[in-house]
Amino acid sequence: APLLTRNTFGVEATAPLLAEVIDATALPELMARAEFAAQPPLVIGGGSNLLFAANPDMPLIAMTGRGVSIARDDGERAIVRADAGVAWHGFVMRSLADGFAGLENLALIPGTVGAAPIQNIGAYGVEVREFIHAVEAYEPATGQVHRLDADACAFGYRDSVFKLAPDRYIVTAVEFDLPRTPAPKLDYAGIGDELAAMGIGAPTPRQVADAVIAIRRRKLPDPVVLGNAGSFFKNPIVPQAQAEALQAQYPAMPVFRGNDAGTRKLSAAWFIDACGWKGHRDGDAGVAASHALVLVNHGNATGQQLLGLARRIAESVQTRFEVAIEPEPRVIGAAW
Ligand code: EPU
Repeated sequence: APLLTRNTFGVEATAPLLAEVIDATALPELMARAEFAAQPPLVIGGGSNLLFAANPDMPLIAMTGRGVSIARDDGERAIVRADAGVAWHGFVMRSLADGFAGLENLALIPGTVGAAPIQNIGAYGVEVREFIHAVEAYEPATGQVHRLDADACAFGYRDSVFKLAPDRYIVTAVEFDLPRTPAPKLDYAGIGDELAAMGIGAPTPRQVADAVIAIRRRKLPDPVVLGNAGSFFKNPIVPQAQAEALQAQYPAMPVFRGNDAGTRKLSAAWFIDACGWKGHRDGDAGVAASHALVLVNHGNATGQQLLGLARRIAESVQTRFEVAIEPEPRVIGAAW
């Protein structure tokens, strides 16, 4: 199966087999077939967090169920269940239109509902973990159907149990716990300014989403126009002492709170920018001119070329700042 249109980098690759599964109850029978019994499949959602450095040798599965339903609703908050194949941004906008709050800062993130818990998608001061009630998943190795509550998902910054053991589960649906009373989070740099520029003082969740959409459209290239997978590197988490030493040397360097005490999150974009990579181009593999953290495919870059560029970028940051940065997307067919 051709994968060119199934990965937002727009990289050419071919899979030995690709199965689209609309109904999760079909998984046990499918997984029993010889092609799938031999090795665990790669689950593909919107293809917005994948880099094919080579053709995958495993079969691919796309969960294409698009059901959304309200499992429970006490008038104050509701458990909303969505199948893995639902498009994330559409789900966010629908939840806002239905009067639920919470997901507004996560508007316009590419990909599917099923992919959201894998790397615990996050933006503008919110992580999806805050609104996940449970994740339904099928485990091919045992044939078990699981319902993992938020604790069992072991969420961290761009991390979860699903990312830790990438071949263990096939996420089939996600249950969200959404409040009707808004609690806007506007402290993340940019949102407040954007709303002020829009002339909005006390924003509705929908207006916050509109501000986020405007910021993202300005900073992040549209994968339909220019192939990319969003941030290519995770922001490095370092011990507080290392962050302080760096900041003493580079006062302009941004420092964010880490999830754990004694740690700080630094800005991969700032390091890459400082090394002069922004807008750089090696053939068709490049770094976005609008954001140093985004690798782009100007046309016919191969996965190997993009990965090669990523390695040179990481090496230069390591050499100059002694900070290791790691890819955020899953790289198929090569080790980082
Ligand atoms: N910066 C630069 N040069 C640049 C871009 C940014 O120096 O070219 C510095 C600026 O100081 C800026 C800081 O980096 O203030 C942070 O930039 P930004 O607000 O764009 O956020 P980020 O840390 O680069 C993270 C997420 C994004 C998410 C934004 C907004 C990661 C790996 N990325 O990026 O998520 O949209 O915050 O919350 O955590 C993604 O994961 O694909 C993604 C786009």
